[in-house]
Amino acid sequence: MYGPGDLRAFDRLARLYDVAMPPARRAPVEAGLRVADRPVDLLLDVAGGPGRASAGLAVPQRVVVDAAPGMAKRARARGRDVVLGDAGRLPVADGAVDAVLVTDALHHLPDRTAAVTAARDAIRPGGVLVVREFDPSTLRGRALVAAEHAIGFDSRFEGPDALADRMARAGLEPTVVGRGFGYTVAGKREVQ
Ligand SMILES: C[S@@+](CC[C@H](N)C(=O)[O-])C[C@H]1O[C@@H](n2cnc3c(N)ncnc32)[C@H](O)[C@@H]1O
Repeated sequence: MYGPGDLRAFDRLARLYDVAMPPARRAPVEAGLRVADRPVDLLLDVAGGPGRASAGLAVPQRVVVDAAPGMAKRARARGRDVVLGDAGRLPVADGAVDAVLVTDALHHLPDRTAAVTAARDAIRPGGVLVVREFDPSTLRGRALVAAEHAIGFDSRFEGPDALADRMARAGLEPTVVGRGFGYTVAGKREVQ
């Protein structure tokens, strides 16, 4: 097992990950961002690795946050703004950003509740947390769970409804934007 956040593995494999992974799909992320009730001018790509998921978004300011120095280095080499930091304790003030994006990463985080809570605090009212994940109840999802565990990842997957519940418990208003093997849930921080 690699342990919390599978960080050691991601730190070591950052270069390979950056080279091997295909570009992330933009459309589902954009659909999630449209749930926001405010313009999205500043977005944090949390556990963002090399910044693949936020790279092509039409958002004026996008900052990658990742806890693995190797990943942060790759993102920097791609010209991205990067902060080394933990998803459970985001290095920003409360209400500092319009959106937080977490793609293909929540299942690796040691404390998903802390990550959702930290994202909620970072987002301004009307802003949104967009999470892209994999549904372990689908055929491909079951194969992915088996494959990640076989290579020693400490990953824990949940489906879209469980994630929507997790967001609601954190005080976000959840919308399941898309279902399937890869799914998207957006949680809006309500305007007070
Ligand atoms: C599968 S990669 C996904 C990267 C990126 N979001 C993407 O879609 O390509 C998971 C990322 O989570 C990061 N990570 C793991 N634990 C973390 C933590 N506690 N805080 C921030 N990042 C973390 C890893 O370093 C890695 O970059």
